[in-house]
Amino acid sequence: MSDNNIMRVALVGPGRIATAHLEAIAASKGEAQLVAVAGLPQERERTEELALRYGAQRAVHDFDEILSADDIDGIVLTVPNHLHSELAVAILDSGKHVLVEKPLANTVAEVDEIAAAAAASGKTVMVGQCRRFFAGAQEAKQRMQTLNGPVSVVHNLGVYVEDAAVGWWKSAAQAGGLAVGLNGPHVIDTMVWLIGSQPIRVYAQTRRLRDRWEGEDEAVLLVEFADGSLGTGYLSLNTRIPVNDRLINGPDGSMRLTDDRNLWVGEDLVVSEQVVPYINGDSAFEQQFIEFVTAVREKRTPQSGLAEARTVVAVMQAVHDSQSSGVPVELDLGTPSVNK
Ligand SMILES: NC(=O)c1ccc[n+]([C@@H]2O[C@H](COP(=O)([O-])OP(=O)(O)OC[C@H]3O[C@@H](n4cnc5c(N)ncnc54)[C@H](O)[C@@H]3O)[C@@H](O)[C@H]2O)c1
Repeated sequence: MSDNNIMRVALVGPGRIATAHLEAIAASKGEAQLVAVAGLPQERERTEELALRYGAQRAVHDFDEILSADDIDGIVLTVPNHLHSELAVAILDSGKHVLVEKPLANTVAEVDEIAAAAAASGKTVMVGQCRRFFAGAQEAKQRMQTLNGPVSVVHNLGVYVEDAAVGWWKSAAQAGGLAVGLNGPHVIDTMVWLIGSQPIRVYAQTRRLRDRWEGEDEAVLLVEFADGSLGTGYLSLNTRIPVNDRLINGPDGSMRLTDDRNLWVGEDLVVSEQVVPYINGDSAFEQQFIEFVTAVREKRTPQSGLAEARTVVAVMQAVHDSQSSGVPVELDLGTPSVNK
């Protein structure tokens, strides 16, 4: 942190989601100062344009320059999924905190490498599970106990994607499948967070309905929790009628959360917020960034920290393992997992 306790931040990865984070940094005003935007040499123009637009001190075209900089405290890392672990480890080794876009990594083994680097450096790792941070989602979390669980959570998350928006989506290894690697973290993270119990078993089937990519564009997953709760997720990139709808039922009540923002408790709409394209920045990205800065300042584990992210990645991996084997996968998250 600078002398006046302001976090000096760089964003690495000036792609599609970058502006949502840059808007959040700008909105944080006194909390943080944007020092640099960093990209690859071949995207110089985009990097410089973003640096200028968001008032960064400099544009950087070499990742090593970010690592060696001594005027940067924290990094917002928005590179493709398969690069998260390698770059996050390098960032931690260089003595900087990191907010990594979801998923933290594509495998649990990679998460464990990041955890080892975090332990060695003493620096903070947070994962960008932005959807938790909407007021509607936060209110749902506050009210979970009133349902007197165990509960059932059913989450349908369907979008329509005509073709791969960026090259790495075409590769299952890079994207972590596809629907599971892109939207799986949203569904799995909020399910685990809301239920607040450990996942113990996962059964899933995935499909590829269109030949535009290697990975799955459909997934259906059933997660059993230690407290008896059930989470059901449906992920689709083929939904011409977009949907983002969670139904949460317990013995003593029902809630429904749509678009992460509109919360019904029974039949009463108790929180409502307009949907805006996340690329323009939104309240969730703002709250997420504030949580990152505050956790670093207070030297505490952030919401959506390493342990929570490891659970999400373990469930994502179990989804693919269950699809391959055709049977449910038992999870023992209490012990370090062995990875393929
Ligand atoms: N929270 C959300 O709702 C949400 C939405 C979209 C994307 N994401 C996540 O954000 C991440 C980025 O996704 P995207 O859609 O913006 O992808 P993208 O491909 O548009 O952007 C990635 C950027 O990183 C750059 N990059 C790659 N290697 C780099 C390096 N070594 N140094 C600097 N820059 C480098 C690329 O050139 C590109 O500009 C992914 O992990 C994705 O899952 C999250």
